Amino acid sequence: MLNNSMRCAGIIATGSYMPETIVTNADLEKLVDTNEEWIISRTGIEQRRISDENTATSDIATKAAQNALSKAGLKAEDIDLIMVATVTPDMAFPSTACIVQKNLGAVNAAAFDLEAACSGFIYGITIAEQFIKTGFYKNILVIGAETLSKITDYTDRNTCVLFGDGAGAAIISEVEAGYGILSTYIGARGEDGNLLIQPAGGSRLPASQKTLDERQHFIKMDGSEVFKFAIKIMGEAAEKALASCGLTKEDIDYLIPHQANTRIIESATKRLKISPEKVYVNVNKYGNMSAASIAVALDEASDKGMLKDGDVVVLVGFGGGLTWGATVLKWKNYGR
Ligand code: ACO
Repeated sequence: MLNNSMRCAGIIATGSYMPETIVTNADLEKLVDTNEEWIISRTGIEQRRISDENTATSDIATKAAQNALSKAGLKAEDIDLIMVATVTPDMAFPSTACIVQKNLGAVNAAAFDLEAACSGFIYGITIAEQFIKTGFYKNILVIGAETLSKITDYTDRNTCVLFGDGAGAAIISEVEAGYGILSTYIGARGEDGNLLIQPAGGSRLPASQKTLDERQHFIKMDGSEVFKFAIKIMGEAAEKALASCGLTKEDIDYLIPHQANTRIIESATKRLKISPEKVYVNVNKYGNMSAASIAVALDEASDKGMLKDGDVVVLVGFGGGLTWGATVLKWKNYGR
């Protein structure tokens, strides 16, 4: 229950980092039976970034976090909590968030990973808001970071064209009343979890020669079912988050959707009846970076000066789990 003495939480800075190596559709044509025309027409993806074999998720997460800290004018010691949303942690434990804490020297921060696949960044914002509203913490770092190339099967044309690596970060702190997070909404439907899954490597199917031979450590996806779910849930989640802060789709100034596929984004745009100029799209450059996608898109849109003070900005995503979420922000460019 919202209490009048509660503080307002908002994003005071964002950051991102992308690995340098670019993999084009032509590169993938050499690996699997696919072609540029199919990939562009079905997904809108032209290229994606891939990390090298010595780079783990914590490495790119740290760089995205450093970028956000420098834009916020904060020191690592000012951070009270670090959350890393990822499906590609460096290892099962220690958490990637603890590794990032060490890398940053954020000695005053608690740290944990959260796993909600592509919705992870919105889940992270939602958790961060609770801590800031109550005054429990002052500055929280929410990072969405993935090295999906490490769990992508480059012999499976159904999935290998879709994914890329990258990291985005946001710092959530107290902001003045009327700005920041107006509402946030998250949901899940575990019964459809098998539609998007990395079957082996956990306690259900521990790593063995058999799981390796069966390629069970890679992403498996029922693309058309995930597609149908995504089209429905993107609009629904955005409308639900808007309704809970008394707004409607007509109030949206900027939509930053999860970047999985241009056709999914177009369908959400249509359902929300907003013009395409109000929607940020970068899936063509990076592919689907799961938990990093929305964070990187938000950072790019903010850096390009597309988000104006007072804009109603809606973040919306869906992903494995199945999970989904939407956040409504009254944007302000702090420190710009
Ligand atoms: N190149 C050429 N042909 C291909 C390729 C490819 N890379 N991949 C699949 N095909 C073929 C299929 O084999 C199929 O052939 P068939 O008809 O002979 O069997 C044909 O193309 C059509 O396949 P569809 O599945 O109908 O294609 P669709 O239009 O649905 O597009 C896609 C496939 C792009 C995967 C789409 O379903 C999609 O984007 N789904 C959502 C994926 C997603 O967003 N996942 C997000 C969550 S990720 C996360 O949480 C980590």
